[in-house]
Amino acid sequence: MRTKIVAGNWKMNKTLPEAEQLINDLLKQVDTENKVEVIIAPPFVNLSMAVDKTQGTLIDIAAQNMHFADSGAYTGEISAPMLQALGVNTVILGHSERRAYFNETDEILKQKAHQAYEKGMTNIFCVGEQLSDRQAGQHFKVVETQLKNALFELPLQAYKNIIIAYEPVWAIGTGETATPEQAQEMHAHIRQVLAKKYGQDLARNVRILYGGSVKPSNAGEIFAKPDVDGGLIGGASLNANDFNAIVEAAKS
Ligand code: 13P
Repeated sequence: MRTKIVAGNWKMNKTLPEAEQLINDLLKQVDTENKVEVIIAPPFVNLSMAVDKTQGTLIDIAAQNMHFADSGAYTGEISAPMLQALGVNTVILGHSERRAYFNETDEILKQKAHQAYEKGMTNIFCVGEQLSDRQAGQHFKVVETQLKNALFELPLQAYKNIIIAYEPVWAIGTGETATPEQAQEMHAHIRQVLAKKYGQDLARNVRILYGGSVKPSNAGEIFAKPDVDGGLIGGASLNANDFNAIVEAAKS
């Protein structure tokens, strides 16, 4: 039985006072009853406040990125030990915006995934094809290659701390959602790819989230698909009512 997860990726949104307000609103509304794991990923500068405010609640805090080294001359970067010192033990890696705008390659992401594993951090690892890949019928291959290149040198036990997020790039922030069937078939494919390398047991147990224009109105039908274990939510995670409605949709 895989517990569903609803994770909010705030991206580059919310100043410190705005973030405090949103977390206050979320804490008033979000009742996870242990049926759904809820994660929010505010910008780095808000993480310390977010950890303090959510201490003792069922909301977990994640970072949106991190560097692969422990420390060093990497101006502007944030390391795993820095996050862990704040009490942040979950990180989103390989988001398509990091891949597209900050040139994060599979090779860099492999190093980051290994760093997360070595530090015992939960890695929400994002994969997803571009529209042109899908139009060319290459979407299954593209996602398979992303997984293999970044994750397949990790040992089996690493996967107890890996959550895969399938986010088709054409559905992110566009209002265009993959159909529940498109999400299901890609999630099933991801399980097959994992099963071939690591065995059925692991493939059955890994949680795979869907991301890309998830909203209260479509979350229920997407989350109802058998291989979809919840969502990674962008825009709708910035509004407490919407995010809460999506958490509720994951319960049924
Ligand atoms: P939207 O929900 O805004 O489409 O963003 C999805 C996403 O990129 C989450 O990481």
